[in-house]
Amino acid sequence: MEENRIMQGTKITEDEDELKLRPTSLKEYIGQEDIKKNLEVFIQASNVRNEALDHVLIYGPPGLGKTTLAHVIAHEKKANIKVASGPTIERSGDLGDILFIDEIHRLPKVVEEVLYAAMEDYVINVVVGKDSSARTLAIDLPPFTLVGATTRVGDVSAPLRDRFGIIFKLNYYQQEDIEKIIQRTARVFDNVIEKDAAKELAKRSRGTPRVANRLFRRVRDFATIANEGHITEKVTNQALDALKVDSMGLDDVDIRYLKGIIERFKGGPVGIESIAAAIGEEQITLEDVYEPYLLQEGLINRTPRGRIVTEKAYRHLHIPYQHSLF
Ligand code: ADE
Repeated sequence: MEENRIMQGTKITEDEDELKLRPTSLKEYIGQEDIKKNLEVFIQASNVRNEALDHVLIYGPPGLGKTTLAHVIAHEKKANIKVASGPTIERSGDLGDILFIDEIHRLPKVVEEVLYAAMEDYVINVVVGKDSSARTLAIDLPPFTLVGATTRVGDVSAPLRDRFGIIFKLNYYQQEDIEKIIQRTARVFDNVIEKDAAKELAKRSRGTPRVANRLFRRVRDFATIANEGHITEKVTNQALDALKVDSMGLDDVDIRYLKGIIERFKGGPVGIESIAAAIGEEQITLEDVYEPYLLQEGLINRTPRGRIVTEKAYRHLHIPYQHSLF
């Protein structure tokens, strides 16, 4: 009996939740207004001309909806989408109308070289035979759109980058947009969230829908236990404090990063390798996930000699500001 109940329980993983939360159309997609407006024109024009959409490169910090936007493009083009990832892509398979490659800065060189002609002329050049009898066969492809996504646009090689006709940078979302995304998430989950609670949660979500949705789930857990699922500002504050997410949305790693520079390197300038070693975090994670937000909020600056913690950060951390002599 007990076992039966367990078997019957439908386990919904957070990945499945993530899919439910994803908007499918441009109309449902909240924020990034400039990108949406442009994209709408480009998609409509390609439809009028009955052509494939030009190749699209989307870059920006993690969690802002690059993958979501790729799926939205496919939906708006009424096209099939095939999803691949830079590091694990294989030299095989049909492309589908839209090929989405995540982490496109990590493509193997051989794949990247095949892509050039594929993107430009819709052909794949294959070498058959060996030595003196070797020749190149050009295989035609149906027109397709490559949508590439990356957190590190500087690491995309120039020849590849130049083959994208449309390039978008996703920026951190306005707080009001995050608030709308949270309200939408609450509706999808059938939870009541008070306006002040959504506001507070948005304030602490670092302009990032993925963070907002993750924190929402945790706040909802606290509300389930304490308040029959009803999400008030009080429960929200209680949950976020318990999760050690501060008033600006900084978490434990952000704080250790800032305090690490202040306490061990007199506030900087200091190289990223030294910071990573000092606080025991991966350099690449700090660069891709943490620093973009700290930079955007003006809590750190990057100089040719390394990172510097700003006066604003000292104030936020309630640490007296010591002017560096240099
Ligand atoms: N979920 C994640 N990102 C979103 C967005 N931009 N709009 C609506 N829902 C989202």
